[in-house]
Amino acid sequence: MDRFTFHNPTELIFGEGQVQEQLVEQLKPLGSKILLVYGGGSVKRNGLYDEVTSLLNGAGFTIHELSGVEPNPRLSTVHKGVDICKNEDIDALLAVGGGSVIDCTKAIAAGAEYEGDAWDIVTKKHLPETALPFGTILTLAATGSEMNSGSVITNWETQEKYGWGSPHTFPTFSILDPRNTLTVPEDQTVYGIVDMMSHVFEQYFHAQTNSPLQERMCEAVLHTVIETAPKLVSDLENLEHRETILYSGTIALNGMLQMGVRGDWASHNIEHAVSAVYDIPHAGGLAIIFPHWMRHNIEEGERKLKQLAVRVWGVDPEGKTDREVAEEGIRALETFWGDLGAPSRLADYDIDDSKIDVMTDKAMARGEYGNFRKLGRDDTLAILKAAL
Ligand code: NZQ
Ligand code: ZN
Repeated sequence: MDRFTFHNPTELIFGEGQVQEQLVEQLKPLGSKILLVYGGGSVKRNGLYDEVTSLLNGAGFTIHELSGVEPNPRLSTVHKGVDICKNEDIDALLAVGGGSVIDCTKAIAAGAEYEGDAWDIVTKKHLPETALPFGTILTLAATGSEMNSGSVITNWETQEKYGWGSPHTFPTFSILDPRNTLTVPEDQTVYGIVDMMSHVFEQYFHAQTNSPLQERMCEAVLHTVIETAPKLVSDLENLEHRETILYSGTIALNGMLQMGVRGDWASHNIEHAVSAVYDIPHAGGLAIIFPHWMRHNIEEGERKLKQLAVRVWGVDPEGKTDREVAEEGIRALETFWGDLGAPSRLADYDIDDSKIDVMTDKAMARGEYGNFRKLGRDDTLAILKAAL
């Protein structure tokens, strides 16, 4: 294992009725002038916006609003939020939505405390020394952004999409009521499931050799999601399944699985390059890229892929080579995601090879990447070509 220090300051408030019971109490210490951040309208349609604003108005908060945060949130929207914070002297932010709303809120919170352009923070030219405090009310189980410090922002003008994070951008609190995820449509539910499974895979594949508990913890999350996901997709209003998937998404990326190991994150890097150019859903891209990353690295990853196949997918290794078992595991993953309705080829999004070099350049923008196995230009091209 690597040496490590674990610290996650986010207060996680989970369960039915927690918005009513906890929101005002949690927000009060952060200040009275609040920027409420939300997306394209789902929270208005499902009543959560009314619930939140009536609680805040009733408690005497002054509310400013930033609506219309896009899936794959854009720098231009971050700029709007930073301007509101600076002009209105905002004390704290409240994100109500999915990962995109929360990621955008993180960039605004850090950008509001910086004189320069928030893009400097995303590109890591400026390391934030502080940020406005913020809380979140999560409405979609997927990214884990509700309990981590990461954020992914797209600069649509330059077609660049980068992840960044800072010790100052953990949410102060996050309220997760599974009822608030009941209205997530089938496609977004599936994307969320693919995303959280991909987060586990990214942390399962690392260069450390002694990580038995980390591996078992990853496998436990995968087992739980694999058991629950098909039941949820065929019964979207089942609160217990929503609850299980919501909790799984948080555990998948709140740092618990990454103690003592350094996750790979190459597939995420490639996906961010694809969605920077084509603006496709993050996890749609992952469902396409990840199995090809596994195949591309089958030689180095044979031991882990075999372990995953046997322990998670229940592949019987009897009479098969390690390579055959590993390959069967990859096929099991493709079948599982395919049965849920996830895409499997870039062509499913009408993406052909015309911009394959552009996507490769973007994936290589920060040089070689991947902590399980370093990938370069040729690797990236090969994975993208296989995914066409
Ligand atoms: O915009 P609204 O109207 O709210 O609709 C959203 C959006 O269209 C809708 N939705 C959310 N909650 C809903 C709902 N619809 C009905 N009922 C609800 N309760 O779902 C759509 C997608 O929302 P979005 O927030 O974009 O999805 P997700 O949570 O998957 O976030 C994706 C973004 O997170 C980044 C991705 O790159 C992408 O930009 N990631 C962030 C990470 C992090 N911060 O740690 C890690 C991830 O790997 C990922 O890269
Ligand atoms: Zn992801």
